[in-house]
Amino acid sequence: MYVLNQHTSEQYLTQMHKTSAIIKEWLDANNVYLGGSPKQVQETVAAMAMDIKAQGRDIDALLADIQTKLLPGCISTASSHCLAHLHPPTLVIGQIAEMIIAATNQSMDSWNQSPAATYIETQLIAWLCQRCKFDSSEFASREFNKQTDEQTTYQSGGVFTSGGTQSNLMGLLLARNTFYAAKGVDVQRDGLIGQSRSVILCSDQAHFSIAKNAALLGLGQQSVQTVATDASGAMLIADLQHKIKEHGADNVMAIVATAGTTDLGAIDPLSAIASVCKQAKIWLHVDAAWGGALLLSKRYRDLIDGIDQADSLTLDFHKHFFLPISCGAFLLRDQRHFESIRQHSEYLNSSADDQDNIPNLVTYSLQTTRRFDALKLWLALDLLGTDAYGALIDSGLDTARKAAQLIKARPDFVLLHDPIISSVLFYFKPQGFSQDFDQNSNEDLKEATELTKLQLAQLNRQIAQDLLINNIANIATTELDEQLCLKLTILNPTTQISDIKAIIEEVASAGYARLKNYGDKLHAAI
Ligand SMILES: Cc1ncc(COP(=O)(O)O)c(C=O)c1O
Repeated sequence: MYVLNQHTSEQYLTQMHKTSAIIKEWLDANNVYLGGSPKQVQETVAAMAMDIKAQGRDIDALLADIQTKLLPGCISTASSHCLAHLHPPTLVIGQIAEMIIAATNQSMDSWNQSPAATYIETQLIAWLCQRCKFDSSEFASREFNKQTDEQTTYQSGGVFTSGGTQSNLMGLLLARNTFYAAKGVDVQRDGLIGQSRSVILCSDQAHFSIAKNAALLGLGQQSVQTVATDASGAMLIADLQHKIKEHGADNVMAIVATAGTTDLGAIDPLSAIASVCKQAKIWLHVDAAWGGALLLSKRYRDLIDGIDQADSLTLDFHKHFFLPISCGAFLLRDQRHFESIRQHSEYLNSSADDQDNIPNLVTYSLQTTRRFDALKLWLALDLLGTDAYGALIDSGLDTARKAAQLIKARPDFVLLHDPIISSVLFYFKPQGFSQDFDQNSNEDLKEATELTKLQLAQLNRQIAQDLLINNIANIATTELDEQLCLKLTILNPTTQISDIKAIIEEVASAGYARLKNYGDKLHAAI
């Protein structure tokens, strides 16, 4: 009996309980990662995953493998030392929702595969549009046909997506269709062959999915032209205006503003960009995959002022909203733009259903079969309320600010940037020997205090690896202005400043240990 139904429900209860107990033990051990080097973890997994035979195995044997071989090789986002990426610890209610999503296995493409779920998603989308003030903004009416000033009223809408990449794709897809429609071309039907080239403007810090999606849309990555940014990583309006002039407003298909760039957390000046877009009748897509979380913030909400003026918006709940992957949304100021991607299939979204007012959400999605991810956000909002939810989000921003102060105070660290949302970019740069190190009094090592940029980059990369492989912390490496640096992305509300202090100490000791161990071979080794 393998299939989940009334005959296996008791077994389901028992096995789920056993599985939860294993997860509990894994959580209680409070490790970041126990899998060792890439080679070690690859070998452990190969020994487990390649053991598929004609006769299957007992569930207890599988669970034992999960416990001893898989879980040690997993990154625990629950750890307060897991600070590498926009990859958060998850809410317990998110896990409960996942259980319900998996067990009920609703598919959001048609009403008759997800009746209640369809209405939950629709209502949650309406709530999100309201939270973004899409319907009350002075930008309520937009017209992209540059020949007319006619304005009409409409309703906002949206759909849940697999995440930021897909939401960005939808924004560019609808912008592309609208742009060419205003020129009398139906790209969805006729394709782009023979059409003039169009331009997408985004900052030089925008997410790589913009270029990737432009290629997918047949526009070519070269259609993406980058606008210079200021020291905080935010788009420079003067350069935006310059780029529009250079390419000609009539050729600009969309401007993509980012509210929370991946590394710096930089937030483009949304209101100013929206004014430019309004004046030039250019579609404004806002990628708020990270910064969108500030919609719930009490103290930092003003950082994303102007978000209400987007024509389309990316939100990602599997980042700073602490929900399990995958969970994102695409919001659209004027939901009539969905019409350009409408496809009818009699088996899913028939015109008879349309006439009977039965919603089949496949009409709005790039996916057909689709998970009921909206349940996670709905339950989380309902359980926590927006105040407590917002406080969890704010906590990461507060800790990041304190972390930056700690790093600034150390002579052997360089802070590259004051935090905007909650990433902290820095690198270890030994300025002189510590007392311990001094006792070693090795002339070769003294020379090592003057490391080249390349050596510093390699040293910092090794530090990040050492910390992970030794189950100390998961921190990222990235590059800013051609300088490799370490990155803490502090989303976890349980991460305290004492955790950060301990991690900073570990970074320093890993750095000095690397230098010490290399001894004479230092210059060759790093
Ligand atoms: C600003 C931004 N946009 C989009 C994305 C892509 O989101 P996803 O990984 O959910 O596809 C990311 C991912 O980090 C991001 O930082």
